[in-house]
Parts: sequence; C-alpha cells; structure tokens
Amino acid sequence: MKKMTVLTGITTTGTPHLGNYVGAIRPAIEASRDENVNSFYFLADFHSLIKCQDPVRVHQSRREVAAAWLALGLDTDRSTFYCQSDIPEIPELTWILTCMTAKGLMNRAHAYKAAVQENEENGSPDPDKGITMGLYSYPILMAADILMFNANVVPVGRDQIQHLEMARDIAQRFNHHFGEHFVLPEARVDESTAVLAGLDGRKMSKSYNNYIPLFAPESALRKMIMKIVTNSQAPEEPKDTEGCALFDMYRAFATPEQVGEMRKKFAAGIGWGHVKQELFEVVNAQLAEPRNRYAELITNPDYIEKVLKQGAEKARTSSRPFLHRIRRAVGIRPLSD
Ligand code: TRP
Repeated sequence: MKKMTVLTGITTTGTPHLGNYVGAIRPAIEASRDENVNSFYFLADFHSLIKCQDPVRVHQSRREVAAAWLALGLDTDRSTFYCQSDIPEIPELTWILTCMTAKGLMNRAHAYKAAVQENEENGSPDPDKGITMGLYSYPILMAADILMFNANVVPVGRDQIQHLEMARDIAQRFNHHFGEHFVLPEARVDESTAVLAGLDGRKMSKSYNNYIPLFAPESALRKMIMKIVTNSQAPEEPKDTEGCALFDMYRAFATPEQVGEMRKKFAAGIGWGHVKQELFEVVNAQLAEPRNRYAELITNPDYIEKVLKQGAEKARTSSRPFLHRIRRAVGIRPLSD
C-alpha cells in the first residue's frame, strides 16, 4: 500500500504561542508518528514576506519556529522538515502554475477581498491601495507548496479551506491541459482541536497581541496566566465550564482525570485565582522540558540550520525530479530532445 502524504506549512511571522501549540503544532507532531503516513512540515518563510517586511523579525521568527518544533519533539527522521526558501523548485513551480491560474480565481480569494473591502470602507479612491502582488497571488505559492509533493491531505485551520480549493482548481486545470501530473489535495480541518482564547478572551492570536508565548520563562508564564480576564463571580459561586476560557485551556493541557476533578470544583465553587494556579501547573508541567530544550536550541542556530538543510535535501530528492517532469510537460526541455 502506498503511504498517504500529509503536508502542512507554518507561516513564520511571529513567536509561537500556546494557541499555535494546541491548535497546530501538538496535533501535527502526534500525527507525524503515524507509520502509515509520509509527513512534510515546512516553514513557509516566503509566505511570511507577504505580511512582514521587517528583516529582523522574519529572520528571528524562522529561527524561533524551527527551534520550537524541534524542542517539542518532531521526529525529523520519520518526517521531512524543511524551510520553503531552501527548495528552489517551489518558486519555479509557482510561476508555471501562475501561468495556468485564472485571474478571476485570485479575485475571489478571501484575504484579497478583505483588503479591498477595507480600502473601500476607508473611502480610498484606489480599491487596491497597499495590496501587493504577493498578497494577491499568495494562493498560487501555497498551491505550489502542496502540489510539489503530491500531498493527499493538508491539515489546516478553517481560514485556509478556500486556499485548498484553489490548489485543487489550479491542479485540475493543469492536469486537464498537460496530462495527469498533480494529485488533488484535500483539506483536513480537525474540529476537535481546541481553539484557545487569549488574555483578553478573544481568540489567541498574534494579530490581537493577546497571546502567551509558548516558551515564556516559568515566572512570566505564571504572571500571564494570572492576567487572563475572568468575570466577577465570587469564589464560592458555582461556575459554568461551558464557554469558560480558563476551563478550555485547562482541558487542553490536563489529563481526563484532572479535567473531571476540575469540573467538580467548578460546580462546587472555586475562586478564579485557584483555577489559574492549577492551570499554570498543568501548562508548566507539559512545557517545562521542551522549554529547556528550546533554550538550548535557540542558542545553537547552526544546529537548527543543519537539520533544516538535511530536511531540504530529503525534500529535494522528490522536488527535483518532479519539477523536471513538469518542465517537460509544459515544453521546457533540452532543444536537442
Ligand atoms: N497559508 C498557511 C497559513 O497561513 C501556511 C501555508 C503556506 C500552508 N503554505 C502551505 C499550509 C501549504 C498548508 C499547506 O496557515
């Protein structure tokens, strides 16, 4: 039986936080242990340039994200872990796909439409004000990432479903014209993975600046957890676990037995300060070891670089011959041939 290929990219624009960990990193690392899948994880650093034009930030985020995945135990022998910018076949495939992508398809992309709408709402005479071609054609770069490795399944967040549909559209159009070269990928959105709330109660996100960095030192982690907003219920009042951000976060880190105990405490009445203390303990217990490994790795960028370069070499054993095939398919081959 041919192994299924699972692939996902991580845009490197910020510092990994607890929400990234619970929602993406932890499930991906678990999935990568499955013997029956061939998994690809990569740092989407070309994607990061769309949102971030600060070279210091771009560089730092690449390092932090790579160190985080390694510190959390990604098995780089079993999976293929690399940096997008180390695979020169990707931008090349992007161009070939760009020439097969309907402009109208890109006009419909959510991210682009949202940017246009914002301009219109601000009364700008130019609806495309401040919109780069990078933002506009972002879905084609993403399609190249995916189609390059014939991924069958792409685990993503809800906001990325449209991009997967576009990748399929682009692949279909190419296949129809040049022959069956690309596998049609499917998005996998795992509804069961937790979405954590941030310090202010909204979804934890870099853009809201309400996040808890994954590897904050222990004392900072504690302080931030203590700052999470709660309502003004008195300690002895029975509390609802439903829709409670603290409870959800606790559940994302605690064992089922601990969660059961916490449920009882909520029903009986427990002060928010105590909930936070227990929350801190379970989060810290899970992160203490990886945090130490992270601290070691982050001061050893040469090692991280070496691991990524090895991953890129492994990835290129398929991207090189595959791009060769695609070039031939479109008519770019030796003149004598
Ligand atoms: N656009 C994705 C995000 O922001 C990241 C990404 C880039 C990606 N290339 C990909 C995800 C390929 C899956 C497959 O989350």
